[in-house]
Amino acid sequence: MTVLVTGAAGFIGFHVASALLARGERVVGVDNLNAYYDVDLKKARLARLEETPGFTFHRLDLGDRAAAEAAFDRIGPLDGIVHLAAQAGVRHSLTEPHAYIEANITGHLVILEACRRLPDLKHLVYASSSSVYGGNRKLPFAIEDPVDRPLSLYGATKRADELMSAAYAHLFRVPMTGLRFFTVYGPWGRPDMSAYLFTKAILAGEPIRVFNKGDMRRDFTYIDDIVQGVLAALDHPPSDGGEDAPPHRLYNLGNHRSEPLMRFIGMIEEACGRKAKLDLLPMQPGDVRETFADITAAANDLGFAPRTPIDEGIPQFVAWFREYHGA
Ligand SMILES: NC(=O)c1ccc[n+]([C@@H]2O[C@H](COP(=O)([O-])OP(=O)(O)OC[C@H]3O[C@@H](n4cnc5c(N)ncnc54)[C@H](O)[C@@H]3O)[C@@H](O)[C@H]2O)c1
Repeated sequence: MTVLVTGAAGFIGFHVASALLARGERVVGVDNLNAYYDVDLKKARLARLEETPGFTFHRLDLGDRAAAEAAFDRIGPLDGIVHLAAQAGVRHSLTEPHAYIEANITGHLVILEACRRLPDLKHLVYASSSSVYGGNRKLPFAIEDPVDRPLSLYGATKRADELMSAAYAHLFRVPMTGLRFFTVYGPWGRPDMSAYLFTKAILAGEPIRVFNKGDMRRDFTYIDDIVQGVLAALDHPPSDGGEDAPPHRLYNLGNHRSEPLMRFIGMIEEACGRKAKLDLLPMQPGDVRETFADITAAANDLGFAPRTPIDEGIPQFVAWFREYHGA
């Protein structure tokens, strides 16, 4: 099987591409290596993938429609696409909104249009986000819940991706699965996310910025569990149920545990062997107080079974951080 992984130099894309290669698939990686965060980290992930037989890479900006269309002609036949490239981050969407439209809307449409034209394609799996649940108060967040109250442009673009995909699955009958990821962390993780920011500051003896004075809860999901869910989704393309049931499904991929932020910080302190200096701040615009994934559908349809509590995942992340940074 040949699988295109977009965002292959990114955190989740790197791990998904590695897992696909490990089970013997050919992987075509795509990424624009943008400077949203440390490009050296993206290059280091890519260098690892490039050591593995079966991996090829195309540097490509999916927001550049003409370049992307030309690249798809060069890439050739594909059996599956795992589309993870995006402008991520809730807070950044308040200051750089256009980056989200280019990467998450134009980039997503470029992938949908490519799907129409790839005769051998069996399945598109794409990243959505828990951010689509926005201001919902009912917990845990379930796939059937209404998702029309986004709290950030990031969340709105991810919901738009789901709706665009539903339309394309209806029109062109390409099987598609959208995965709503819940706060993913682990080795090779993103420098703009809490596990990385907190670990870096604690090891440097600097204060950590804790929003809503720490009164938040997150469903923190370890990267290996996410990879298991992405591969399981790829292996289970939805069937076409006819006019009223196009081949499009959505699933939550979370750990199904809503952890208090202060417990998460406590785990990092323990793994670092140091206490954090807390800079307690008010709630940030765009943020949600709590996330908690109902994973019933993913468990039933995909056999998704997250097994890494933060007590195990955080020490593994901190060990990677120290080794990678020599800290
Ligand atoms: N990490 C999380 O907790 C989380 C949670 C919910 C959803 N997601 C989604 O999962 C996906 C992967 O996230 P991640 O954490 O690995 O983020 P990441 O930023 O590490 O990876 C995204 C990659 O996409 C690339 N990219 C961005 N715009 C591009 C473009 N126009 N063309 C080509 N490449 C482009 C970036 O260079 C980056 O390497 C994203 O769609 C993100 O929105 C992540």
